[in-house]
Amino acid sequence: MANDLMRFSVAVPEDLLIQFDQLVARRGLAKNRSEVVRDLIRGALVEEECDLPGVEVMGSLTIVYDHHAVDLRDKLHGIQHDYFANILATTHVHVDHHTCLEVIILRGQTELVQEVGNRILGLKGVKNGHLALTSVHDYA
Ligand code: NI
Repeated sequence: MANDLMRFSVAVPEDLLIQFDQLVARRGLAKNRSEVVRDLIRGALVEEECDLPGVEVMGSLTIVYDHHAVDLRDKLHGIQHDYFANILATTHVHVDHHTCLEVIILRGQTELVQEVGNRILGLKGVKNGHLALTSVHDYA
């Protein structure tokens, strides 16, 4: 069966194995070496998939900006309306008197999601931000 567990052995330097076991321990009691190796494999496959054009991905774009920046809120609003079909939700947090944080959840093909991210991250007044992509592909 395609999802039967298969065993394979891997040779790694002892120091790397010690560091890996420390990572496994940090992940908690629900995870063992095999679970963490499977997580890492899935993570690598998702990361590679998100670099390919034409793949349906989910994106979370986090931005920090000064809400006093001239025209910025209008421009942010305009871009989000331009891509309404790809923007599933936006969460806005008032960090302090000047600073806002938004998390924008996107869905679409890789290049479109990256285009929206780049348009928003490129706006004057956006201080910093990060677009994280993931796929919804069901890896075993
Ligand atoms: Ni705000």
